[in-house]
Amino acid sequence: MNYKMRGRGEKDEFVFKDSSIGLIRLLCFLILFVIGIIIGLTSSSHVDRYFITSRPDNFYTDYTTAAPAPSYAKTATYDQNCSTNSNCKNDDCLSMESFRMPKNLTHRMTDNELFWRASMVPDKPEYPFDRVPKLAFMFMTRGPLPFLPLWERFFRGQDENKYSIYVHSNPGVRLDYENSSVFYQRQIPSQDVKWGTVTLVDAERRLLGNALLDFSNDRFILLSESCIPIYNFPTIYNYLIGSTHSFLDSYDDPSRYGRGRYSRRMKPDIKLRDWRKGSQWFEIHRTIGIKIISDTKYYNLFKSYCLPSCYPDEHYLPTFVHMFYGDLNANRTVTYVDWSLGGPHPATFGADDVTENLIRSIRNNGTNCAYNKGKTSICFLFARKFSPSALDPLLGLASSLLGF
Ligand SMILES: *[C@@H]1O[C@H](CO)[C@@H](O)[C@H](O)[C@H]1NC(C)=O
Ligand SMILES: *[C@@H]1O[C@H](CO)[C@@H](O)[C@H](O)[C@H]1NC(C)=O
Ligand SMILES: *[C@@H]1O[C@H](CO)[C@@H](O)[C@H](O)[C@H]1NC(C)=O
Ligand SMILES: *[C@@H]1O[C@H](CO)[C@@H](O)[C@H](O)[C@H]1NC(C)=O
Ligand SMILES: *[C@@H]1O[C@H](CO)[C@@H](O)[C@H](O)[C@H]1NC(C)=O
Repeated sequence: MNYKMRGRGEKDEFVFKDSSIGLIRLLCFLILFVIGIIIGLTSSSHVDRYFITSRPDNFYTDYTTAAPAPSYAKTATYDQNCSTNSNCKNDDCLSMESFRMPKNLTHRMTDNELFWRASMVPDKPEYPFDRVPKLAFMFMTRGPLPFLPLWERFFRGQDENKYSIYVHSNPGVRLDYENSSVFYQRQIPSQDVKWGTVTLVDAERRLLGNALLDFSNDRFILLSESCIPIYNFPTIYNYLIGSTHSFLDSYDDPSRYGRGRYSRRMKPDIKLRDWRKGSQWFEIHRTIGIKIISDTKYYNLFKSYCLPSCYPDEHYLPTFVHMFYGDLNANRTVTYVDWSLGGPHPATFGADDVTENLIRSIRNNGTNCAYNKGKTSICFLFARKFSPSALDPLLGLASSLLGF
């Protein structure tokens, strides 16, 4: 097409030009030259097109030769054999089992990545597996657990499908429990915790985030190394699973140790009338756990403005849960502590203090507590603070009084 039009143009030009033979020759030469150029261009565009279409083919060939076929085939094998092949223990395979309950607690996720992943909520109400609700026991410790033998007794013989254990200890502390222990390989990736700072809240959220990855975990219990259980596992399981409320201490303290720690810089998002206080040792439902690790806005306000002598661990969760999920909360804790001595620290029970009477009085001091729509004489399930020396007398009481 191009060629014909150009040709006609040259002919028209020829009509108007002088008819000298030299000129005609010149024109013929020009025409031939132009035809030559056109043929050249057309064929070179063919060449271009050839290269363009052939390039991906070359890339593909290069790619497959560079990435050897065996490794490609290996990936496929992994995928097909994921649930059965033992090679997959060290691989992040796409298997239902590891998705609903990661067995290996080691990971390299940052807190932000962990919280994002842990905040996933299935939209489908039915589970494609038999979901037995579990209690997640989350231990925040510095070093080894002083009451390990007591806890081992507590869990002994219990249904493994009804509980899981997570331990956040100081970074660098390796807890090498025997493979027969319920605490074997239950340490989560941890970071430094400075008591009285927001890093304590970070550790609580990190424990929650890790525990939320197991879709069967239903209730989340935060425990310290000085906490002990004061009932046996079945009693605690039924109490917590059967409750329609979470147990997160949250109350309004008008004193300078309560409202006095409020900062006006948290306005307008947090008002003084929203400000709450409470013990950090909570027992909460999965729904609230997910809301806690999903919160950024209120967490950041506490991080910025709840500075000494404001303690984020005593105010952030009590305030946050009061503001948004108060109706899901019993507003009390089920972890006993004795503040009767006064002062900044609660009483610590040592070997000499541990008697049958102490445990009985902790279990029931004569008052009843609200539970669902009624009342119960069981107000506490756990107690603190116990010093390591209390271990032996407690083990002595375990089978007769504690029931494990
Ligand atoms: C999957 O594993 C089985 C046994 O472990 C083996 O026989 C089979 O060849 C494997 N499949 C593939 C695709 O490698
Ligand atoms: C858990 O995973 C880490 C790396 O993610 C690995 O180093 C470790 O060996 C695994 N532990 C077990 C018991 O498989
Ligand atoms: C547990 O550890 C012992 C030795 O410490 C070892 O003999 C045994 O094979 C281990 N069991 C499992 C299931 O890893
Ligand atoms: C706990 O406090 C909230 C307000 O934060 C209230 O709505 C809720 O009814 C209280 N829970 C119980 C069990 O009284
Ligand atoms: C018993 O315990 C409850 C709950 O901690 C407390 O409010 C109450 O004051 C206690 N009563 C006595 C008599 O110590």
